[in-house]
Amino acid sequence: MMTSVEYYNDRVVRLFLLAAAVWGIVGMLVGMYAAAELAWPALNFEIPWLTFSRLRPDHTFGVIFAFGGSALIGTCYYIVQRTGHCRLAWDGVAEFTFWGWQAVCVLAMLTMPLGMTQGKEYAEPEWFVDILLTIVWVAFGAVFFATLARRRIAHIYVANWYYGAFIIAVGLLHVVNNLALPVSWSKSYPIYAGVADAMVQWWYGHNAVAFFLTAGFLGMMYYFVPRQARQPLWSYRFSIVNFWALISIYMWAGSHHLMYTALPDWVQSVGMAFSLVLLMPSWGSAANGLLTFNGSWHRLKTDPIAKFMVLSLIFYAASTFEGTSLAVKTLNSFSHYTDWTVAHVHSGSLGWVAMITIGSLYAMAPRVLGRSAMHSHAAMELHFWLHTVGVLLYVIAMWSSGVTAGLMWRATEADGSLTYAFIDSLLAIKPYYVVRWFGGVLIWLGMWVMAWNLWHTAAAARRGDIQPNAVPLEGHGAAAASMSLATATAVA
Ligand code: HEM
Ligand code: HEM
Repeated sequence: MMTSVEYYNDRVVRLFLLAAAVWGIVGMLVGMYAAAELAWPALNFEIPWLTFSRLRPDHTFGVIFAFGGSALIGTCYYIVQRTGHCRLAWDGVAEFTFWGWQAVCVLAMLTMPLGMTQGKEYAEPEWFVDILLTIVWVAFGAVFFATLARRRIAHIYVANWYYGAFIIAVGLLHVVNNLALPVSWSKSYPIYAGVADAMVQWWYGHNAVAFFLTAGFLGMMYYFVPRQARQPLWSYRFSIVNFWALISIYMWAGSHHLMYTALPDWVQSVGMAFSLVLLMPSWGSAANGLLTFNGSWHRLKTDPIAKFMVLSLIFYAASTFEGTSLAVKTLNSFSHYTDWTVAHVHSGSLGWVAMITIGSLYAMAPRVLGRSAMHSHAAMELHFWLHTVGVLLYVIAMWSSGVTAGLMWRATEADGSLTYAFIDSLLAIKPYYVVRWFGGVLIWLGMWVMAWNLWHTAAAARRGDIQPNAVPLEGHGAAAASMSLATATAVA
């Protein structure tokens, strides 16, 4: 009897892969320009849309939602099909999520420099963009959960748990934080006021870090790290324990962004206490990923993708340790207004988020482009070094700047007067801004190297040598490679 062959929907995955590469270059270009403006302020040429204050949200939206978001949705669609051994549900809706997400990103990135903003960090776009984003997000969730529902494997692999939490939590955060009253097509006011507004905003802001910049990327990590290490996950059970611990603790830590403000003191202390506990599941996942390389460490000599992944996990461990420390009130009183925060942000985002993304894209791209490997191994190696040196320059410069400014602001004379004027601290940190900008240039060049490599890897697909959507569903072995032996046995 003939059985019909079912194929993965890799077309939409390829589209998101392309979008991630393009937005990575755009978002980091804006970050690089903003970094240059901090070193050489005249670069704004007194053009309103080119000022630092307008480019900064464009950078954060560009890298987090456009670059990170495209990579997350693309890898999520790839993984849920492979681990469920089924095709993505609803091709048309999946395609809509691609075009819808790109429309959200383009609209946000064009309107913010024009001054249309809610002034809420990481939630700047105005109400009409928020509504479109909500519709696209609901469609994304529908495709993901409908695909899970049609899976052919009873077990739901842990990567999908993280993606599921990411989808549900980000939808909830986005809607609650953006409840606002439009007064014109380009302006709205939040329904919250005063300290309640600040708390809702940082409940959102912090959990954007938790669920957008962490949970989703952990989903990526839990699928691609075992595949790249060619080993089962070090402990499958531990990954589940860490999942529940992470999602139940993160939600309560947002008030560490509002230390020494009008927020009641006990709420600040709750944020600090939960931040301390948060270190455990964070290091749990980092350790689980790193220990998965036990027996495969030799791969680091020759495999740039494995190098990206291992270093991303080290940065994940380092930045979460740093975050926990910065949440201690005494240290926060020192670090808060300094560049130490910016160093922490970028060791998390450029070290952890960007590196696990780049590693995963390199691992996924050949498989969806009908190739056995990326076009150029040497180019991946070059990218790894450009990125690593760039990130180290960036974070070391910002740590130095943060500690320098913090110490200068605290220095007092015997009579209690301040030793330094504010301008002295700005002059002292200027060299670090130049170093940070240079680090950004290296990272950005690395993104071009990746784009070039992807373009050539896609050459056969562009010529039509492989047919879109022509990768048949894999056998059980594909998913088993990324699961623990126990789980693999259970699903085989
Ligand atoms: C070429 C690489 C990058 C450069 C040169 C760069 C540069 C910058 C600059 C100059 C700022 C403003 C800092 C300030 O307000 O004092 C900034 C902020 C920020 N960037 Fe980047 N960035 C880069 C990559 C990324 C990536 C990949 C992400 C996320 C995935 C990211 C996330 C952020 C966030 C969240 C902030 C706000 C930080 C805060 O409020 O403390 N950046 N970046
Ligand atoms: C255990 C995990 C973490 C804890 C406890 C933590 C804690 C903190 C603290 C205390 C601050 C400074 C708040 C302030 O003084 O304003 C902060 C800022 C920030 N962290 Fe983390 N962090 C963690 C992990 C991460 C990771 C992995 C990332 C990125 C991938 C990240 C991204 C950010 C961002 C974007 C900000 C700046 C927010 C702003 O715009 O002011 N954090 N974090």
